[in-house]
Amino acid sequence: MDALRRTFEQQLGAALPGVDITLERPRSGELGDLAFPCFRAAKQLGKNPVQLSQELAGSLHIEGATLVAAGPYLNLKLAPATRAAAILSALLAAPAEQPFGRQPANGKKVIVEYSSPNIAKLFTIGHLRSTMIGHALAQVHQFLGYEVTRLNHLGDWGTQFGTLLAAYTRWAQADNADLEADFEWAEPAPEKRRTPLFRLFQLYVRFHADEEQDPAMRDEARDWFKRLEAGDPEARRLWKWFRTISLKEFQRIYDRLGVSFDTLEQGEAFYEDQLVPTMQKLEDAGLLVAGDKGARIINLEDVGISTPCLVQKGDGTSIYATRDLVAALYRKQAYDFDRCLYVVGTDQVLHFQQIFAVLAKLDPWFQGRMLHTPFGMVKLPEGKMSTRKGNVIFLEDVLDEARDRVAAIIEEKNPDLQGREVVAEQLGMGAVVFFDAMNDRVKPITFTWDRVIALDGDTGPYVQYAHARILSVLRKAGGDWAAKAQCGAATGPVLPFAPTPLPADLGGLEAPEAQALLFELAGLPGAIATVVEGCMATPLARQLVSVARAFSGYYTNCPILAPDNSPAVRDARLALCVATARALRQGLYLMGIQAPEEM
Ligand code: ARG
Repeated sequence: MDALRRTFEQQLGAALPGVDITLERPRSGELGDLAFPCFRAAKQLGKNPVQLSQELAGSLHIEGATLVAAGPYLNLKLAPATRAAAILSALLAAPAEQPFGRQPANGKKVIVEYSSPNIAKLFTIGHLRSTMIGHALAQVHQFLGYEVTRLNHLGDWGTQFGTLLAAYTRWAQADNADLEADFEWAEPAPEKRRTPLFRLFQLYVRFHADEEQDPAMRDEARDWFKRLEAGDPEARRLWKWFRTISLKEFQRIYDRLGVSFDTLEQGEAFYEDQLVPTMQKLEDAGLLVAGDKGARIINLEDVGISTPCLVQKGDGTSIYATRDLVAALYRKQAYDFDRCLYVVGTDQVLHFQQIFAVLAKLDPWFQGRMLHTPFGMVKLPEGKMSTRKGNVIFLEDVLDEARDRVAAIIEEKNPDLQGREVVAEQLGMGAVVFFDAMNDRVKPITFTWDRVIALDGDTGPYVQYAHARILSVLRKAGGDWAAKAQCGAATGPVLPFAPTPLPADLGGLEAPEAQALLFELAGLPGAIATVVEGCMATPLARQLVSVARAFSGYYTNCPILAPDNSPAVRDARLALCVATARALRQGLYLMGIQAPEEM
């Protein structure tokens, strides 16, 4: 496929010197495999695009393909057998480390910062978006040849620790230092929430509730944070312990999600000893001015941002923004990156505009390297979430609910399924993560269960089902067919499928439905590349749905194991099944979704 594309580009380049040659993908395989839109070239040459495409169709010749003028487009269309051979060899015969769409190392370094939950605030459904969008972005960048560092800017420092320390010492320390049992003051926790981290969360919520009646409590919290920043041993000891409790629980969630980071040690607190030197740098650069009540701010009006960036509060304590500045400076020196992606909600757009603007003032090196990848909030039918008020939806509850709903469906449809719990977990997760990806990244999403787990919509389970169905066909085919769609454990973003030779005769794949499936498979590399351009998994998710849908047409119209198939037809059709299974599994894997072999 790549070779054909290059030949096409070369011939166009020779015929149209000085013209930018950008190929597109036609809308359907019926039109062709590659399209050259003639508009721009025609304009440059002072010609009519329809006429130009006809001229080119008449003058260029490419072995194994026909060139068709379709209005202003020049389409390259492969003969069915050539198309089958091109796609199948890319999906089956390529070396294990070079799957379809994979790019060689490009020498570029990318930091993807994602997840970044706040300690003692629990993991909410909002963090799922950051975690899974970030995971997919990290995977895909790596797949496309970038060197990727996965960072988690844990919220393990800040005024919320003042709140927590105040709340803990006020109500919990005396009678229940281990946080294991129910507190007298608290609502009894739901059975599965009897965890120390949930206790901290309850303390936090209670403090904010009481504080509304008694504003003096605010000073109490502020004092505790000051003590913490000043190195007070008791404040430090408790903070450390809160952090350990939280990390333990986060790790459990990351394990469940199959997500990992290069380090969990570079949270906000990590930068603490660099706060003073960074303030000095800002001072030396002449950026700091006095704000209200002794605060220090940086004006950004000259770069079109009317709200100044607050970097130090009146009481001398640092804030969230300060720690982000320090983190960026640290990352420059530690990673020398080309690009740093921040996968954080749309509510922080202004924050990152300010941070990036300050960095650019401080050091032009940062210009163009920093990118905020915002995503919309997750909405519930009941309205917005707030940790302070305690009406949050916990990620784990969502995953549990997805799993249980899927388990109920399995119970009904396939009660004898082996390893039901594992499959239900994989499908539930697939449903939630895929739903997230199918939604436009920046728009808010509302979780509606029926849409999330539907087996017949544009859902994760639909794609997972296509994969499982293929494996069931391959098992029925016997021999080593099923094994060809299996692979060992992956260490990076690539699933190591062993190369397998193509059947000699691909005549069984001439039917339009087989060709349509090949065409959708051919769209995967482009979709993966677009993930990086738009910093969202949506194009990949959509293309996987298109492949799954095309497979369903193929399965219905091209009998694979029919007794009257010749061995050649059967082999060719099975080979396309293997290729499709591999493609679906690899694509889901990039998104952080498992593909069960049976469901
Ligand atoms: N901890 C923050 C939150 O949960 C997100 C941190 C985002 N990353 C950053 N570098 N500021 O809202």
